[in-house]
Amino acid sequence: MSFDKNRVIIFDTTLRDGEQSPGCSMNHEEKLRMARLLDDMGVDVIEAGFPIASKGDFEAVHAIAGEAKNAVIAGLCRTVKKDIEATAEAIKPAKRQRIHTFISTSPLHMKYKLQMEPEAVIEKIHECVSFARNFTDDVEWSAEDGSRTEDDFLCRAVETAIKAGATTINIPDTVGYATPEDYAARFRMLIERVPNIDKAILSAHCHNDLGLAVANSLAAVQAGARQVECTINGIGERAGNAALEEIVMAIRTRPDRLPYTNNIQTTMITQVSRALSDVTGFTCQPNKAIVGANAFAHESGIHQDGMLKNAQTYEIMTPESVGLDKSELVLGKHSGRHAFRKKLEALGYKLGENALEDAFARFKDLADAQKKVSDDELIALVAQNVAHMERKGI
Ligand code: KIV
Ligand code: ZN
Repeated sequence: MSFDKNRVIIFDTTLRDGEQSPGCSMNHEEKLRMARLLDDMGVDVIEAGFPIASKGDFEAVHAIAGEAKNAVIAGLCRTVKKDIEATAEAIKPAKRQRIHTFISTSPLHMKYKLQMEPEAVIEKIHECVSFARNFTDDVEWSAEDGSRTEDDFLCRAVETAIKAGATTINIPDTVGYATPEDYAARFRMLIERVPNIDKAILSAHCHNDLGLAVANSLAAVQAGARQVECTINGIGERAGNAALEEIVMAIRTRPDRLPYTNNIQTTMITQVSRALSDVTGFTCQPNKAIVGANAFAHESGIHQDGMLKNAQTYEIMTPESVGLDKSELVLGKHSGRHAFRKKLEALGYKLGENALEDAFARFKDLADAQKKVSDDELIALVAQNVAHMERKGI
């Protein structure tokens, strides 16, 4: 079987990093519902939770592991033996299991959070990655706060993790501090300097504190990472994680710049995004890329006219490609006659030129007074229009 060197592994952490953000917690059934959808959509790795965190988390990871059809099921754990044991137990029913263990490597985190000397951190990495390998061959190690870790120390830590048996090395931008250039440089530096780097897959995990999570993830891929960790709708700690749908659609839409492959069925994106909003009560902002209510909606007259002539004038991807039926031409005060006529035709009204002008003028008055004009209001407007024209003798 030939190995696709441009294949990007999509690692979804909606049920772990996403779920641990305020207001996004999910119950057992909700997690299972989301996991089934992620599996069906073609996510390669589902990080199902943090089994040591609570009994509920353990049980959810265990249940998801028992149901997953294709995805690798990962559980997160600190570099602590009892965490690793709990994770190993939780993911046991899965056909394909991954233990994902992490420890901070930045000077700030080691000094203040861990209160550990760098040498002790290196020892922990070796001890815990080796321990995790007793349970599965698929072990991921993350350098928490990796983007603020000194180069020399990061190289040592990564080399140690790979020697101990880690098969995936994740360099998180835990606090969303990186820029695309410096995040990419970090991956290039590791590829150049770590002698055993070819024994592991490099992974990006980006937070969105500066709104750069997707750009940073894609920059890492361009620099050699072949796994991206992301979440549906970009939920996650603070400003969230890189949004799965944005990464996948960027790759799909710009193969000229991003010649990578993945396994995601993009036509499920809208369904999965809406399911998550339904489960968490977290709706996306209307202008959210790919899945926001306005992502395929057009109100301005110039744009609507362009869309009616050729959708590519104002859309770089089709609504069908993300599982929507069609684009929406929203009638509001910026709309023009072309879209207005088309909308009336779609509603079953074919007006002559005079009647159309009259209706359009009255529609503009209504649209000036309110943000949107609904189909019902348009129908009422056409009915009033007939009466109005009769009075005017048109
Ligand atoms: O942001 C982060 O550093 C993480 C790790 C635990 C992977 O979520
Ligand atoms: Zn994270």
